[in-house]
Amino acid sequence: MKRIGIHIVLIFATSIFFLSSCTKDSGPIIIRPPVDTLSFADTILPIFLAKCLNCHPGFADLDLGVTNGYSDLVSVNSIAFPGYERVAPYDPQNSVLYQKVAGNSQFGTVMPLYADRLTDDEIGLIYDWIAQGALNN
Ligand code: HEC
Repeated sequence: MKRIGIHIVLIFATSIFFLSSCTKDSGPIIIRPPVDTLSFADTILPIFLAKCLNCHPGFADLDLGVTNGYSDLVSVNSIAFPGYERVAPYDPQNSVLYQKVAGNSQFGTVMPLYADRLTDDEIGLIYDWIAQGALNN
């Protein structure tokens, strides 16, 4: 009789242990390699100067040169896509700039227009810069 009692206690204790270990489910842990804080002036602007300046200024009331490149983009409403900003800080997916260089057809023509796509590295840098808050640094 005594033995059975101990067994029941043990089974009960073990099941409590397992049940309690199941209660916290915080989902999968996604580990991304850390990205250095990107500099607008040193990393992002040079892409625009090399590949976009021939048309901006000129088209879409968007100047991607040294003086206006930042202020014409960040938190500025898109002309072609109402409800979206050209660059929405921390939110690349809702940024027309990112979507256009990434080639998402929902956002019209790919930029740069009539030229080779940006490299995957360049597109990734633009994504990371926006995700880091689109700093003016
Ligand atoms: C050959 C000319 C040309 C080049 C080069 C070019 N663009 Fe454009 N861009 C345009 C035209 C024309 C529009 C307006 C039509 C449209 O939105 O597709 C435009 C629109 C845009 C818009 C949308 C503006 C808004 O308010 O909706 C963004 C952002 C943009 N370009 C970014 C770039 C970037 C970044 C580059 C360089 C990687 C680039 N463009 C290179 C011609 C060009």
